[in-house]
Amino acid sequence: MSHETFRTASDPETSESVLSNLSKSTDEIVRGAVASNESSNLSTLLSLVGDESPHVTDNLMNNKKKSASNIEVKSCKNIILTTSNIDDAEFILSLRMNSNLNEFVSKVEGDLSKQKEWLVNYKKREEKREEFYFIIKDLDYKPLGTVRVYDFKSGSFCWGSWMVNPNSPRKTAIESALAVYEFAFYTLGFSQCHFDVRNDNVKVINFHKRMGATEIKSNDLDTFFIFTKSQYEETKPRYSAFLKG
Ligand SMILES: CC(C)(COP(=O)(O)OP(=O)(O)OC[C@H]1O[C@@H](n2cnc3c(N)ncnc32)[C@H](O)[C@@H]1OP(=O)(O)O)[C@@H](O)C(=O)NCCC(=O)NCCS
Repeated sequence: MSHETFRTASDPETSESVLSNLSKSTDEIVRGAVASNESSNLSTLLSLVGDESPHVTDNLMNNKKKSASNIEVKSCKNIILTTSNIDDAEFILSLRMNSNLNEFVSKVEGDLSKQKEWLVNYKKREEKREEFYFIIKDLDYKPLGTVRVYDFKSGSFCWGSWMVNPNSPRKTAIESALAVYEFAFYTLGFSQCHFDVRNDNVKVINFHKRMGATEIKSNDLDTFFIFTKSQYEETKPRYSAFLKG
């Protein structure tokens, strides 16, 4: 890397498009400089969230530029994901308290003000691009469920808090999983995901196996999976009917 390139990547006067190009540099020092630069636009900063270099992700965390207050993922034909807001507390709580849905997710208290407080704290993590908690919606923005992308480490993300209202259109679950993968692999730039499912949640375990995830281990409670971007790209043509062209 030339000193000149590093200077351009660090300079607040550098244009957004040049910074966007430099964010794809093979040199982590250059990407790290883009990650610290408050003149980088939000999509450039988001694209560095999944970077494998801790130097880059540390710089990104320290960049004071806030993430957009509302992110929408529109990769699928029948659903969108929108980042959740305090106003979604009631809907989220209705799912978390539904005894048909909450057997395999961690328990929360049925207290609306606590749920709002949780969302206030979540919004701070979202601003720093540490976590994205989405409401799954139909194309008229009617809420159908939730899904969360979190625990970012060295190019790998975890997803969970996945709940879909049973009255939703039949393919909501599959489209929401695809939307998560599209967002995390392409918008955030991750190369892998990791997640765990309760052993007794057989339906969800089968869902992930069917998509091509690899089971890596299990213990008395949970089964652990990884799913790489290349595995996703192998499986993706089978799901083209759910994805926008
Ligand atoms: C997890 C959850 C969102 C999954 O949703 P779901 O609707 O039960 O998911 P399904 O496995 O039935 O899949 C939905 C549809 O997509 C289809 N589908 C699933 N995987 C598919 C695949 N790989 N290819 C094609 N179709 C697939 C299913 O066959 C089903 O279609 P059908 O209704 O015609 O049979 C939902 O069960 C839920 O909210 N559970 C409670 C919370 C929970 O346990 N969360 C997971 C914690 S890890």
